[in-house]
Amino acid sequence: MFSFRVLVLVLGCLWLTEAATNMLSHGDQLNSSDFLVSQDGAIRFGFRRQDYGRTWDDKQFGYYLSMWYTEDVFNHSIWLANRDDPIADDSGVLIVDDTGLKINRTGGDPIQLFSLQSTSMAINSTGMNLVLLDSGNLVLQGTDVGNGENLVLWQSFDHPTDTFLPEPMRLGFSHGRNLSLTAWLTDSIPASGSFTLKWDPVGNQLVARLRGRILWTTGEGLRDFQKMHPLDPLNMNYNFTYVSNPNEQYVHYTPVIDRFTPEELRKNARLLFDGSLRHSGNQLLLFSLNACDGDSTEYGCERWEGPKCRYKGDKYEVRSIRPTHIDSFDNTLLGNTNLSINDCKDICWDDCNCLGVNVMSDLGCQFLSGPYDEGVLNGQSFQVIIRNRPKSRTWIWIVISLAMALTIILLFSTVFYLRRRHRAREEEKFLLDLMTSDDASDIRELQTGNKGHNINIYTAEMIMSATNGFSPENLLGKGGFGPVFKGTLVDGQEVAIKRLSRGSTQGLVEFKNELILIAKLQHTNLVRLLGFCVQGDEKMLVYEYLPNKSLDFFIFDESKRKLLDWDKRFSIIEGIAQGLLYLHKYSRLRIIHRDLKLSNILLDENMNPKISDFGMARIYKTNEAGTNTNRIVGTYGYMSPEYAMDGIFSEKSDVYSFGVMVLEVVSGRKNRSRFEFDRPLNLVGYTWELWKHGAALELMDPSLSGSSPKQYQVLRCITLGLLCVEDNPSDRPTMSDVISVLNGEMQLPLPKHPAFSTESRIVEENVMDKEMENYSVNGLTMSTMDAR
Ligand SMILES: *[C@@H]1O[C@H](CO)[C@@H](O)[C@H](O)[C@H]1NC(C)=O
Ligand SMILES: *[C@@H]1O[C@H](CO)[C@@H](O)[C@H](O)[C@H]1NC(C)=O
Ligand SMILES: *[C@@H]1O[C@H](CO)[C@@H](O)[C@H](O)[C@H]1NC(C)=O
Ligand SMILES: *[C@@H]1O[C@H](CO)[C@@H](O)[C@H](O)[C@H]1NC(C)=O
Ligand SMILES: *[C@@H]1O[C@H](CO)[C@@H](O)[C@H](O)[C@H]1NC(C)=O
Ligand SMILES: *[C@@H]1O[C@H](CO)[C@@H](O)[C@H](O)[C@H]1NC(C)=O
Ligand SMILES: *[C@@H]1O[C@H](CO)[C@@H](O)[C@H](O)[C@H]1NC(C)=O
Repeated sequence: MFSFRVLVLVLGCLWLTEAATNMLSHGDQLNSSDFLVSQDGAIRFGFRRQDYGRTWDDKQFGYYLSMWYTEDVFNHSIWLANRDDPIADDSGVLIVDDTGLKINRTGGDPIQLFSLQSTSMAINSTGMNLVLLDSGNLVLQGTDVGNGENLVLWQSFDHPTDTFLPEPMRLGFSHGRNLSLTAWLTDSIPASGSFTLKWDPVGNQLVARLRGRILWTTGEGLRDFQKMHPLDPLNMNYNFTYVSNPNEQYVHYTPVIDRFTPEELRKNARLLFDGSLRHSGNQLLLFSLNACDGDSTEYGCERWEGPKCRYKGDKYEVRSIRPTHIDSFDNTLLGNTNLSINDCKDICWDDCNCLGVNVMSDLGCQFLSGPYDEGVLNGQSFQVIIRNRPKSRTWIWIVISLAMALTIILLFSTVFYLRRRHRAREEEKFLLDLMTSDDASDIRELQTGNKGHNINIYTAEMIMSATNGFSPENLLGKGGFGPVFKGTLVDGQEVAIKRLSRGSTQGLVEFKNELILIAKLQHTNLVRLLGFCVQGDEKMLVYEYLPNKSLDFFIFDESKRKLLDWDKRFSIIEGIAQGLLYLHKYSRLRIIHRDLKLSNILLDENMNPKISDFGMARIYKTNEAGTNTNRIVGTYGYMSPEYAMDGIFSEKSDVYSFGVMVLEVVSGRKNRSRFEFDRPLNLVGYTWELWKHGAALELMDPSLSGSSPKQYQVLRCITLGLLCVEDNPSDRPTMSDVISVLNGEMQLPLPKHPAFSTESRIVEENVMDKEMENYSVNGLTMSTMDAR
């Protein structure tokens, strides 16, 4: 490893000393295997192959003449010469010749960046030089034949793309030009996108637009810009300044030197594809267009007139939907690659027939325009417009007539409803009776009169023969309240059988809990209960058998983790999130799992995740902010601080555990591992330190690098993980937020203060003080702490 690094270093140096130049003179050519390097080595410029597919399974490539920071792990382009005209192959050549500056290519017209004919001055063309300056400006210099004066003929700072570099770069009106930013079309497609930040010479201000629509203005100079600077209101980190004189009006900025490391100083502000302006140095959000919803006039947001059918407070939310009619989707703009999701949302907003847009549509827009079911399992993720209709007279009349209609319908359906409720009650009673009866003398009656349950009742004999009399070979592991065995039923079906340890009273509570809860839950990402057995002393639950064991078995195993490439891991994270969302939001009951950890995530034969072990789960009422319990159960390392210390649990406790799992899946390390930074840290603390230092990607499991993961996706997961483990539960996202983030649909806020990072010792002591009964300790999790 070490010698390999040295070799790379040496080769790299040799190569650099050979190729490094920051200049292209008249007659020189820069082809796609070469690049310019600024004098200080920090910036490079050359042809790069760039993926501009919309999703990771739909890749298209083109060559772009671009500029980037040598040290940038994301390889993000800070400037592109041909963002809207990618070169199909590596034939591109940058030439300084008698015509000026141009890109030649096969199979296409040359791209003329600067033409000598366009200038009225007499320039000595053989004396022209193209120089890459340390500031990130690419300058074409020439000499006036008349007076021998040195002139700047062309410079990249006069043609900004999406990146705002520190001074001397400017936005506004300067050198007789309008200097503005245009965001990329999507995360990965550099083509001109939907958002722009342009100078308005009349109002002397910067104006942000979604296509033609004005969303936000800075106010003259930078008046409102300061307000829109939520994390840096006093201009402490970046000194943005407005300069105005008769010839020029512009904005520029300098990072305040003593607040940044030298590497951070090099970073830049970008207008992102989602309309936010972000600084890559410390990820400070300078401005987010998401704050301007059409009605808001705060922070310089412009009010705009929506169509009559939209009301104040209407907004987009991600929902899982399924169309109920063949014409529910409007695909007329589906193939239009010029449209980003933001355009689609905008078009939909203006069209009163439009109900939502597909967040996953690869090319162009897919609109929702007809009837649909909401909150369905495995539905498609749509940004649906959620209405907020105001009270009005016509509305009241509609309500009244609706109410009358409803009353009639109610009358007719009451009988049906009562019958159904009766049946549901009976079902409930059946389960409860079963649970509370210690002697199961009426078991035979239950078996024969199965009363329409979709779960089976097994006899102890059936289970004995299925598991070979609970032979040790069939032991799969230990669950929350007893051993788990593999079994094969008479009909050949493979099942997993969880057996309650005899005489365990605590176990009995959990057994009942799990049976009652899981019997009612149905979701692809939850393990399925097939039936149970209660007979004498024996109490057992029978589940579908999942051949691939649990997720920890893969993630924490040096060789097995290689089997899970990034796409797989990402889909596992998504699956867990879907399962949790269902528990929290869409199941008939609202359920907090309370013991989420990798060993409770089982994998089916296609490596789809399934949440298991509901022994600790609790049903909660929606209006409860947080419920207090004096019995703290869970697994150390996955427990949220408010739960571990004060016994307060809410769905945000599950979100915390989810965050820990995400970080573990990305890193392949246990949260309880020791990491050495400047002090020993757990995984959460270590991630936080890396993230603060802009090195979050170092967290990534090295065995993933072979599968060339999408780095922005990895980074998104890491940031998401950090958000989920925020100290303050209200700072954690909900599971529906998590889904939006995973879909790349929601702008991530910045993590503030993840828990367990610095105070892990204190927390640990407090937890111990509470003397937690029934501490569900997974043998693996506790005993194998790798110390690296
Ligand atoms: C690019 O130019 C260098 C010399 O400047 C040459 O060695 C190399 O073969 C060229 N590569 C291509 C792809 O033309
Ligand atoms: C960044 O670009 C360099 C050179 O173009 C390439 O070798 C490297 O693999 C790229 N890294 C990523 C993460 O794409
Ligand atoms: C660039 O292309 C033009 C026309 O396509 C051609 O006349 C010229 O010779 C080319 N220059 C170089 C250096 O290949
Ligand atoms: C043009 O520049 C070249 C190189 O700098 C120089 O040799 C030549 O004399 C110049 N020609 C004129 C007319 O100034
Ligand atoms: C700059 O933009 C303004 C308004 O957007 C326009 O009137 C003006 O002609 C533009 N100037 C140049 C040089 O393009
Ligand atoms: C910001 O820049 C202006 C001029 O560019 C300067 O006068 C001012 O002192 C700077 N402020 C800080 C905090 O550096
Ligand atoms: C996309 O835009 C380009 C130019 O901006 C245009 O030529 C092309 O026809 C557009 N494509 C579609 C599908 O509208």
